Amino acid sequence: MVNYEGKTVLITGAGSGIGEALACQLAKKKAHLLLVGRDAEKLERVRVKSVGENIRIWICPADLSDTDSIDSLVSFMETECIRPDIVILNAGISQRAKTLDSDFEVDRRLMDVNYFGSVYLVKKLKKMLLDSEMTHIVVNTSIAGLFGFPMRSAYSASKHALFGFFESMALEYDNIRVTFLVPGRIRTGISSSALLGDGSAYGRMDPGQAAGLSVEECASRALKAIAKGRRKVLIGKSELLMAYIYKWFPSLYFRLSKRISAV
Ligand SMILES: NC(=O)c1ccc[n+]([C@@H]2O[C@H](COP(=O)([O-])OP(=O)(O)OC[C@H]3O[C@@H](n4cnc5c(N)ncnc54)[C@H](OP(=O)(O)O)[C@@H]3O)[C@@H](O)[C@H]2O)c1
Repeated sequence: MVNYEGKTVLITGAGSGIGEALACQLAKKKAHLLLVGRDAEKLERVRVKSVGENIRIWICPADLSDTDSIDSLVSFMETECIRPDIVILNAGISQRAKTLDSDFEVDRRLMDVNYFGSVYLVKKLKKMLLDSEMTHIVVNTSIAGLFGFPMRSAYSASKHALFGFFESMALEYDNIRVTFLVPGRIRTGISSSALLGDGSAYGRMDPGQAAGLSVEECASRALKAIAKGRRKVLIGKSELLMAYIYKWFPSLYFRLSKRISAV
């Protein structure tokens, strides 16, 4: 069981939702934090909320869809001598549009933010990772990364891709541990920033999202699973049943998923 006290944790998407809740709870456990996201004001708000005795909190605005921006983040880490023990790849955007109604640019944007951003960041951290005794990489995926789901084709694809990439990586290095967080529906603003077919924001909270698990409970379960070194943890309410139905009764999954409201 990992004790978070004194550990340094990098969190992407730390300015809101699950990333923010993880930051606040980790600060209470006396971890040092590097908070990353595009919006400096949101990061500063989380920093102020998390401040505690004997911990350091850095903020570094960075856009994960922009490799220059990730380069600047890594330069900042080198300058400040920040060597994370835990890297939480949490930033992401969702989707609310059917496959053929989504412009190709929407597919590309979802892959850039949700998948390539994390892949590029990890490759830029190569030296730190190879030199470290142990680094724990935590990848926030989704149950939509376990199966296809209506109105989420590119989102689901980006989350599936994370599983393939980071599971392979975990098998290659003895000093890298990977935990996949697999949330169902968590009450955050993720549906507001979800992309419609033309790339604009959906701009509202889904009823399903609003009825989801609280973000605090999600973060608490995630931190317990990370501390135990679990490879994968499903976090949510009754929607998690879909993962078991998909695995054991695939035909039933297809019948149910066609009928479930995707918003
Ligand atoms: N909520 C759920 O029901 C649910 C379910 C399954 C999986 N997840 C996953 O959980 C993760 C966190 O989502 P959330 O629910 O906490 O929603 P959220 O509050 O919208 O958090 C997403 C975070 O990602 C950051 N982000 C978006 N685009 C970015 C970019 N280009 N570069 C850097 N950061 C970027 C956002 O910060 P800025 O806008 O400041 O950049 C934001 O803080 C996502 O990967 C999501 O797919 C959530």
